[in-house]
Amino acid sequence: MGYNEYAHTKHKINRLGFGGWQLGNTEFWGYMAIEDGVELVQHAIKRGINFFDTAPGYASGLSETILGMATKNLRSKVVINTKLGHTADGETDFSVYSLRKQIEDSLERLQTTYLDSVILHNPGFDILEGKTQHVQELKALKEEGLIRAFGVSIDTYEELDTVIHHLDVDVVEILFNIFFQEPAKLFKKAAKKGISLIAKVPLDSGWLTGKYDENSEFTGIRMRWDDQTIERRAQLVANLKEMTKEENLTKYAIAFILSFPEITAVIPGMRTIDQVNDHLANADFKLTQALKDQFIKLYETKIKDEPLPW
Ligand SMILES: NC(=O)c1ccc[n+]([C@@H]2O[C@H](COP(=O)([O-])OP(=O)(O)OC[C@H]3O[C@@H](n4cnc5c(N)ncnc54)[C@H](OP(=O)(O)O)[C@@H]3O)[C@@H](O)[C@H]2O)c1
Repeated sequence: MGYNEYAHTKHKINRLGFGGWQLGNTEFWGYMAIEDGVELVQHAIKRGINFFDTAPGYASGLSETILGMATKNLRSKVVINTKLGHTADGETDFSVYSLRKQIEDSLERLQTTYLDSVILHNPGFDILEGKTQHVQELKALKEEGLIRAFGVSIDTYEELDTVIHHLDVDVVEILFNIFFQEPAKLFKKAAKKGISLIAKVPLDSGWLTGKYDENSEFTGIRMRWDDQTIERRAQLVANLKEMTKEENLTKYAIAFILSFPEITAVIPGMRTIDQVNDHLANADFKLTQALKDQFIKLYETKIKDEPLPW
């Protein structure tokens, strides 16, 4: 699987990281008791995963709380990234003066004295264009030692292009998977600027495992897709199954992302110990160039001109 240096922190992170949106997030992702979340995180750490992504807004602070409970005696073994802008009580607050307080609240929930990194959670273009004082404030907080690196979480080619041209950041979390390939054209430029790239939503919220089809019914956060979107995704998944000649696509989806050397780590959202084990069992799987080319062609011919909604 391999390790990469993370966001100028001198820490090395496993390229298979852990997406923490699901932790304790019964409302959006299905039931997860607090103790199950703690066990899940500790299992992942025991098996060698050391990079964890979370946010105050995930399960109203519970994702951070669970991560804190699981890592309080293992702090030096893990690298924790959390976010700023969407608070645990459901408020959206990107004001510069609130950043310190938001970080202090996360430190408390995470039971730690420092954050390896914080990223602005889908900020607006005024921030991405460097027209505000966010970077200056985050640099000051870094000097103080409250955080060790900072950056942004964004979704599109246009946003990444803007960040590369205007913002001095250590890390960017970017929406990237077989169905969302547009930002890939900018990866080399981002890496050249020294930005660590973290790939979020690597399984298209579960579709790229191959386990859903046009008859699947969704609850929670996945109720966002209309019938037409579900049918289109199901057809694309069927195309991928024809290419790979396999029903389970998970390892192909992750390997596609990691085949881009500029990607520092990928963070699938994991809900069960079986899912953690499954990712680890396939951690060294490599895509052939021929399959990678087919995945790129699928995107170019069937998605690019009419992008899927997230
Ligand atoms: N704006 C942002 O900054 C932002 C937005 C989205 C995500 N993120 C981060 O990125 C992470 C990943 O994105 P995501 O969780 O939205 O989507 P994702 O990783 O593409 O999909 C997660 C879902 O995939 C399924 N899954 C994962 N591993 C599996 C396995 N080995 N076998 C079978 N199914 C598996 C699970 O589905 P089931 O639930 O059906 O088991 C899981 O809930 C999040 O956890 C979060 O940390 C950040």
